[in-house]
Amino acid sequence: MQRDAHLTNAALMARRRAALPSGLGQSFDIVCERAENAEVWDVEGKRYIDFAGGIAVLNTGHRHPKIVAAVKAQLDKVHHTCFQVLAYEPYIELAERLIAKTPGDFAKKAFFLSTGAEAVENAVKIARAATKRQAVIAFGGGFHGRTLLGMGLTGKVAPYKAGFGPFPAEIYHARFPNELHGVSAADSLKSLENIFKYDVEPERVAAIIIEPVQGEGGFYAAPAEFCRALRALCDQHGIVLIADEVQTGAGRTGTWLACEQWGVAPDMVTMAKSMAGGFPISAVIGRATLMDAPGPGGLGGTYAGSPLACAAALAVLDVFEEEKLLDRSKAIGERLVTGLKAIAKKHVSIQDVRGAGAMVAIELFKDGDRSKPDADLTKRLCLEAAKRGLILLTCGSYANVVRVLVPLTASDALIDEGLGVMAACFDALA
Ligand SMILES: Cc1ncc(COP(=O)(O)O)c(C=O)c1O
Repeated sequence: MQRDAHLTNAALMARRRAALPSGLGQSFDIVCERAENAEVWDVEGKRYIDFAGGIAVLNTGHRHPKIVAAVKAQLDKVHHTCFQVLAYEPYIELAERLIAKTPGDFAKKAFFLSTGAEAVENAVKIARAATKRQAVIAFGGGFHGRTLLGMGLTGKVAPYKAGFGPFPAEIYHARFPNELHGVSAADSLKSLENIFKYDVEPERVAAIIIEPVQGEGGFYAAPAEFCRALRALCDQHGIVLIADEVQTGAGRTGTWLACEQWGVAPDMVTMAKSMAGGFPISAVIGRATLMDAPGPGGLGGTYAGSPLACAAALAVLDVFEEEKLLDRSKAIGERLVTGLKAIAKKHVSIQDVRGAGAMVAIELFKDGDRSKPDADLTKRLCLEAAKRGLILLTCGSYANVVRVLVPLTASDALIDEGLGVMAACFDALA
């Protein structure tokens, strides 16, 4: 096929660099032309296996036919009214179905926004309105978005917070339990105690927000018993417990929500990313008594819960049921962990292979020395993988984690092909 000479990756990247600010990161100098399930093709016709899934957005794959059909059908009916002006049924049905899937033996309500950061902001707004308290506790290494409150809650300075302060007041950071980096669950609970001792009395804390598995922070899972202790602490002091499931939600960890694995329920859950398979929508689902605290007009947004995104999210729920994607999440996770452990046997740089369902990562250290996180190798590995046709992402407080977020609709053959590319990259870089 004859291709337009101006539509090369290099030419488009040159235009991108001239027109777009450098603060907008770019993992690869690749410009995507089309995508299907777990594969993408660039403007030069090169094919890639997609182990990134648009950063945890494509659990149902690129352009799932049922989701595309649902959005097209909605487009033919109504595509915008602003829900607060004129309501539409898909929004209401989506709220009902998400409520039914959220843990907690209490009445719940839900509403929608457009981005993960907005969902987090609104959960905090609601917790403050309901408790009439101001302070919020988040965790070191956590990521909660790029808005000012999102940045304030985020527990990583570079690149997310550097130069952007001051941040909203009354935010405190506890230590996230992370055995690999020497923080036990007991250390983490102690750090909360210290916040109550040194920084703010628990009676002024509105909420504690936690990712069940830290996403950008490095795919570290908070142990279930720690989350139960957190629940008890929140109950003791009347603090709202918020599970930020923007990255973990919609089946990535083998259950619809990761907090289902805690054995106790958070008061509020935030979702976004894969809940609508790539259409921009986010959700706050929570205890009805809290959710009704803000006065009329206090919540909402012009595009929030757009009809197209609601239709997509409803189709995602159907696809999960029809294709048993929660089972698939567990099976893919096991396949990836087995495959990556086999690679780790040959390469001492891989010091940890971990997975919560299909939220899988490897962590790299220089010469296998756990005091020397290897960000350089991690970056080179991802670039080498892209050259060989596999899209991989890094993450982690030390930038030494390679994460896999392959669509749950990917075939075993494609996953094995991706694992093969990873093995070849390690061999090439060793
Ligand atoms: C746990 C978590 N919370 C919030 C966000 C922010 O979501 P968004 O980029 O849609 O604002 C992210 C994004 O990566 C996330 O992983």
